[in-house]
Amino acid sequence: MKFVIMPDYDQMSRAAADAIVEQLTDKPDSVLGLATGSTPIGMYASLVSDVEAGKVSFADVSTFNLDEYLGLEPTHDQSYRYFMNDNLFDHVDIDKARTHVPSGIGDAMEEICEDYEAKIALAGGIDLQVLGIGNNGHIGFNEPREDFPVMTHTIDLTESTIEANSRLFDSIDEVPRQAVTMGIGTIMGARRIIVVANGKGKAGIVAQAFTGPVVPEVPASVLQLHPNVTVFLDAEAASELDM
Ligand code: GLP
Repeated sequence: MKFVIMPDYDQMSRAAADAIVEQLTDKPDSVLGLATGSTPIGMYASLVSDVEAGKVSFADVSTFNLDEYLGLEPTHDQSYRYFMNDNLFDHVDIDKARTHVPSGIGDAMEEICEDYEAKIALAGGIDLQVLGIGNNGHIGFNEPREDFPVMTHTIDLTESTIEANSRLFDSIDEVPRQAVTMGIGTIMGARRIIVVANGKGKAGIVAQAFTGPVVPEVPASVLQLHPNVTVFLDAEAASELDM
C-alpha cells in the first residue's frame, strides 16, 4: 500500500487525477471503476480540464460505478447515475453506452447484480478502481458487518451512512434505506486501486482502515491485502496516520 499525502484537497485531487491520466495514457481503452461522494469531485473536475486541454481522452474508456441507491431513477438528482453524468460523463469525450452504473430500479435485483458482474467480466475486468471511504470505513456501499460480501449485492444502509448522506437530500426521510453495491470481491478483483480521502473528519477512519487490523467491521481495511493500492490523502486526512 502506497500513500501520497498532499498539502490540501486541490493538490490531492490533482495527484489522483494524474494517476488516472497515466493509466489512460498507458492503456487508452482502460476499464475504470468509479466512485461517487464529495471526495472525488475535485478529481473529476481535474480530469474534465485535462480532456478540454487535450491531455487525455476517454473515447475508448469503459466505466463501472461502485454503487447506486435502490429506488432512485437515474434522473433523480441524488442518484449516482446523475452524479456521474453531472461531474464527469457529460463533460468528457466518453461513449455513454460504455458507462455503467448498477440499476437500483425494479424487482429483479438479483438478476441485476449477476448481470453487473457478468458485464465487468466481459469487459475484461477493472484496470483501475477509484474508491472513497465512508465515515464508518465503508467502500462502495459495503457497510461494516461480520463477513466480507464477495459479489455485487443489495444491502441495508446503516443509520450512520443514512445520516451522513442526508446532507445531500432535502430531509433525512428522503434518503433511500437500501442500495446496490459491488462486493468486496469485485473491488479486490481490480488490477489497481486508488483511494481518495480528505479532511479532518476522515483522519480516524483512514488510520484505522489502513494501519489497523483487517476486519470486515472496517470494510476498507481489506485493501491492505491488495497488491496495488495507492491512497491519496490531504494533510488533514493523513494527520492520524502513524507511519
Ligand atoms: C458514499 C458512497 C461511497 C463514498 C462514501 C464517502 O455513501 N457510497 O462510495 O466513498 O459515501 O463519501 P464522501 O466522499 O462524500 O465522504
